[in-house]
Amino acid sequence: MAANIVTGLDLGAHSIKCVVLSHTGKLPKLVSLGSVASPQPGLASDGDIDLEAVGTSVEQLLTSLKAPTDAVVISLPESKIFTRVVTDLPFLTDEELASAIKYSAEEFVPLPVDQVNLYWQVIDRQKQTNKTQVFVVASPKIVVNKYLKALGKIQLKPWAMETDLVAAARALVGSNELVPTTMVIQMGASSTDFAVISKGVILITRSIATGGIALTRAIAQYLNFEILQAEEYKKVYGLIEDQLEGKIYQAIKPLVDVLISESSRVIQAFQAKNSDNPIKRVVLAGSGAKLPGLVGYFANSIGLEVQEADPWDGIEKDPSLVTKLASEAPSYTVAVGLALRNE
Ligand SMILES: Nc1ncnc2c1ncn2[C@@H]1O[C@H](COP(=O)(O)OP(=O)(O)OP(=O)(O)O)[C@@H](O)[C@H]1O
Ligand SMILES: [Mg+2]
Repeated sequence: MAANIVTGLDLGAHSIKCVVLSHTGKLPKLVSLGSVASPQPGLASDGDIDLEAVGTSVEQLLTSLKAPTDAVVISLPESKIFTRVVTDLPFLTDEELASAIKYSAEEFVPLPVDQVNLYWQVIDRQKQTNKTQVFVVASPKIVVNKYLKALGKIQLKPWAMETDLVAAARALVGSNELVPTTMVIQMGASSTDFAVISKGVILITRSIATGGIALTRAIAQYLNFEILQAEEYKKVYGLIEDQLEGKIYQAIKPLVDVLISESSRVIQAFQAKNSDNPIKRVVLAGSGAKLPGLVGYFANSIGLEVQEADPWDGIEKDPSLVTKLASEAPSYTVAVGLALRNE
């Protein structure tokens, strides 16, 4: 069922971001947006008090934005779920597919299948070639229930739930088949997630536990700084080599190189299966994408066109907001993608 106004709620490790979009006009229209720091340890904990603190922060944010709560879409972090593009299935009906996917999930989900919720999207199904290709998401019930519990503390029941990369793909690529094959790299606080999207469909995903927090810690250690000070230096100097005798650059370069090698691995894995479909561009999302010098560093290292994410493209917004939106653009990628879902 379609909704006129959708509230996207991105419950990140570092901050909770919210975007409200109206879907009544020709283009989706920005109604409001905002963010609040995530309480710690928040959703990293299983404790009742910690989950309640998350609920309270969400409530404060939604109230301050006057965000409607009848259609709230949330996402689960990539690091907590399992996704796979299953390619080895014959032509199957919807009913046959449901049981085939349960069977396939046993291969890539390291949990008993009855402990996960399975969701799938058919990528391709052809009688002639006798092939079905499906994108499958397996979300551990224990993780889903934790998110529901935190929101249940404020009597909020999400309208839909998806994953960070599904939302980011919708915001940055959408279903436009003409957009060239794209790799999205989403650098958050606790992890960095990778996805390759072709013709509006995710064909590969990966998540590694190196994110913005790791960069800050590396600076703190290298320069013997307090965490807060390291965080500020990171945001100001980033990967700019000729600043501060290159010290910040040297502190974080080994970790950024971990992201580069993972990107290369994802590109190779994708290309091995899709040799006729080259990746044409890389989009950096998440607040970590704002690291000074990151776009250039990536472009030099992987030899592809690299750009910072702009999830606001294609969304109608008040002209007075445009500058603020630009500086915060990559941070709101997931929240925009969630609010773009309208069925
Ligand atoms: N200008 C900047 N330069 C570099 N890093 C930045 C900048 N602004 C924010 N960050 C970093 O981005 C990280 C937060 O990113 P983001 O808000 O996307 O994470 P999150 O969604 O809360 O976390 P996660 O996705 O891991 O759950 C923090 O580590 C922060 O230091
Ligand atoms: Mg995030």
